Amino acid sequence: MGRETQGGIVGAGPAGLLLSHLLHLQGIDSVVLELRSRADIESTIRAGVLEQGTVDLLTAVGVGERMRREGSVHHGIVLRFGGRDHRIDLHGLTGGRAIMLYAQHEVIKDLVKARLDAGGRLLFEVTDVSVHDFDTSAPKVRFRQGGEPQELRCDFVAGCDGFHGICRPSIPATRRTEYQRIYPFGWFGILAEAPRSTPEIIYARHERGFALVSTRSPELQRLYLQCDSKDDIANWPDERIWQELKARLATTDGWSLMDGPITQKGIVAMRSFVVEPMQYGRLFLAGDAAHIVTPTGAKGMNLAVADVRVLARALAEFFTSRSTELLERYSQTCLPRVWRAQRFSWWMTAVTHRFDDDDAFSGQLQLAELDYVTSSRAAATALAENYVGLPMDASSLK
Ligand code: FAD
Ligand code: DHB
Repeated sequence: MGRETQGGIVGAGPAGLLLSHLLHLQGIDSVVLELRSRADIESTIRAGVLEQGTVDLLTAVGVGERMRREGSVHHGIVLRFGGRDHRIDLHGLTGGRAIMLYAQHEVIKDLVKARLDAGGRLLFEVTDVSVHDFDTSAPKVRFRQGGEPQELRCDFVAGCDGFHGICRPSIPATRRTEYQRIYPFGWFGILAEAPRSTPEIIYARHERGFALVSTRSPELQRLYLQCDSKDDIANWPDERIWQELKARLATTDGWSLMDGPITQKGIVAMRSFVVEPMQYGRLFLAGDAAHIVTPTGAKGMNLAVADVRVLARALAEFFTSRSTELLERYSQTCLPRVWRAQRFSWWMTAVTHRFDDDDAFSGQLQLAELDYVTSSRAAATALAENYVGLPMDASSLK
């Protein structure tokens, strides 16, 4: 069976859903195809930190109301090392900018609702998705729905299907360059029904490995600890998790970590990845389909949002004037920001994690780096401006 739309969007993550919403606001029709069920995408636990620019965009396009009510604004973060806390005053160092703690699956719920309320076409639980003819002006997406083969004819395809999706590998290998770094460790993430232990996120460097304390609500906390990349959650009964977190987060001033029942556990692989260019013909990659950052900088979802903001503008220009100028520049516009986020995420990882080849010298360098960034206003400002989110255009940093 055949269908038509202007935009065929593969993947209903933050990138695909927000792109569909932004296009709709400009009168451009799209269809979003998603492998998983609505219930599944609305309950998968992932990111939590939204940059100021992401918050501003979600608000401006009418999907920020619940976020503003239920999310929490944080004006600083804490770097903990040597058993002591050092606060980075994000707000004071960036002229009043901040971050919002609001779970990614809540952003997903808000976007799905906005699309469905506007009559948007989101097809869940499709299978066998493949993209075709995107080197012509008549691309197609083929898939099965309820087992029935379907074909979606469109003017362009947006590959928003995450790192393991099918869009990126559909670009001929000779037409893309991939940059990748894989780390020997991962993050063990938990959700715990416990009171807050800290008003602000704590990034802790410890000889036993990195730990992170974040939050979702006054009653629900999100914590991570560095683990072996091949580790198994079966190796981590609740008591071991709390013991390890408490050891890595111990301070010299009597602070204590509040524990409680653990309701979710998962291991996240650590990877840095970029594909260049992020487009081929009429196929445009956005979000994790094009790049992965280590989670230490909290940048992944924010980069996905930044990509689709650029793509939506370029497509709007195309559909109003048939000009392909912005579309042709899509990769060039996105990639500098992607690499700046890679640099920052790599740096945050490098100064806080235990590496396999750890030697006493590297450990001292990490401490010197952390000491510098928490005692020099210039260095702290550099961290803060990256953490709250760099502007789209690097020239405005001058
Ligand atoms: P995804 O969210 O991966 O969405 C892709 C969608 O495509 C999925 O729903 C998938 O089911 C679907 N799909 C895949 N293949 C197909 C196919 N063939 N056909 C149709 N659909 C398909 N980022 C931050 O900004 N801040 C943070 O604090 C942060 N913390 C993180 C913590 C953890 C533990 C993890 C794992 C990630 C974190 N991130 C963070 C990263 C962030 O979650 C991702 O960067 C973000 O989800 C990227 O969005 P996306 O829409 O590009 O891809
Ligand atoms: C969270 C995730 C991150 O990757 C991070 O750097 C900080 C917080 C979170 O899930 O809350």
